[in-house]
Amino acid sequence: MKRLVSLILGTSFCLAAMAQVQVNVHETAENQPVIHKEIYGQFAEHLGRCIYDGIWVGPESDIPNINGYRKDLIEALQTLKVPVLRWPGGCFADEYHWMDGIGPKENRPMMINNNWGGTVEDNSFGTHEFFNLCELLECEPYLSGNVGSGTVEELAKWVEYITAEGGTLAELRAKNGRKEPWRLKYLGVGNESWGCGGDMYPEYYSDLYRRYAIYCRNYDGNVLYKVASGASDYDYNWTKVLMDKIGDKMNGVSLHYYTVTGWTGSKGSATQFDVDSWYDMIAKSVEVEEVIKNHKAIMNAYDPEGKVDLLLDEWGTWFDVEPGTNPGHLYQQNTMRDAMIAAMSLNIFHRHTDRLTMANIAQIVNVLQAMILTKGSEIVLTPTYHVFRMYNVHQDAAFVPTESNAATMVAPSGRIMPEASVTASRDAAGKLHVSIANPLHNEAQTITLNFDELKPKNITGEVLAAPTIQSYNDFGKEPAVAPKPFTAFKKNGKSVTLTVPAASVVCLEF
Ligand code: AHR
Repeated sequence: MKRLVSLILGTSFCLAAMAQVQVNVHETAENQPVIHKEIYGQFAEHLGRCIYDGIWVGPESDIPNINGYRKDLIEALQTLKVPVLRWPGGCFADEYHWMDGIGPKENRPMMINNNWGGTVEDNSFGTHEFFNLCELLECEPYLSGNVGSGTVEELAKWVEYITAEGGTLAELRAKNGRKEPWRLKYLGVGNESWGCGGDMYPEYYSDLYRRYAIYCRNYDGNVLYKVASGASDYDYNWTKVLMDKIGDKMNGVSLHYYTVTGWTGSKGSATQFDVDSWYDMIAKSVEVEEVIKNHKAIMNAYDPEGKVDLLLDEWGTWFDVEPGTNPGHLYQQNTMRDAMIAAMSLNIFHRHTDRLTMANIAQIVNVLQAMILTKGSEIVLTPTYHVFRMYNVHQDAAFVPTESNAATMVAPSGRIMPEASVTASRDAAGKLHVSIANPLHNEAQTITLNFDELKPKNITGEVLAAPTIQSYNDFGKEPAVAPKPFTAFKKNGKSVTLTVPAASVVCLEF
């Protein structure tokens, strides 16, 4: 592994056995952007055991539930503070017909979930179940509309059913148990319209988007925020065409970026991996910064005033499914590697909140880089869950700029990554939070935080570390990866020096 010495502070630093990193924290900087809480968004698709088993067990289940939602999951998610939840897909969204998911359950038709293993979907979780879930979690709903196989009329009527106070659809909604309209802000006009969402060209999608955007209306004070179906990772032309043709008709454009080895062949095991793979996947995950920058540059050219937001509405790790599980269900375990990727990705997202206003990790439970895994009545909080919980202090806090002289290194794949990653913010109560990720797999790092003025007095901290980089939390076992109090710091005037363990994430409160 070759290391490059960074020159960020204008000085070169020699690397000793225990790396020494200096971080300047500019807590006095004014007029900094807010880290939109929606950066901590979640995604729930009708895919594998995400909705059924994961979220919804039904009111008759032996598994303790609140009106059909797993009680253990709801409690864990309430602690997490989920700001926004995207549903019903993903690829599923472009084959979903919302009318199939309302009314008495016994009358709801069944469909084949063609994208995800051919599983039969009974539509028992539909619009009411989703909006009631969002109320329970106190989060914003984010609907992905069917553009690929649906019609303009169908999506327009879904918006009316959900948000209008009067009319036949409002009466139908009341008959189905909900008199008051819900509020709906985020409306995705299609998903991956270049692929599973219709296999379209960007020019064709742009024309189609215009029709959807006109007929999806604002009812009774509800104001829609329309999201155009955006690019996959390096497809800059998609963003360019959309900004050119419909930049004045959308509130935001989406982007999808997965940490994956590739789309053909094996994606590697989520748990059985070597040190090279640890670095390769982390380096792939942090490449998202370059991708965000490139999409932002295109957006800046068309929209210098920054009216259109960028929403990374799918991101996360994608590995081979756990042995013995349905390949179409995307069920994977979650290790300290996923936690590191989550922390380093969130640190990056914080730096781009001028355009990046939302990010939804894929997915909330039992699918891809999940917060939670379930098996029957058992539940496991994954290492990624713990990062999201430790980091939720940054939601809606003011970004605090930092500079670090951390070296960069070249992963075996040739991708470059930093040897340490830091972010900071100040919350509404004035508390300063600094989060640090040390991706070195076997090396603790001494990291000194130098403040502009602050002479830290009361410091509390948590650390997420694990016996090995492959450690994960499993059913029926004591959690191998769980946060612990962090006390390995020394104060010295306006500085604090920390010993950050190898392969760990530390969050401090000042
Ligand atoms: O998150 C799984 C799938 O990944 C989604 O359905 C799709 O949008 C993306 O390709």
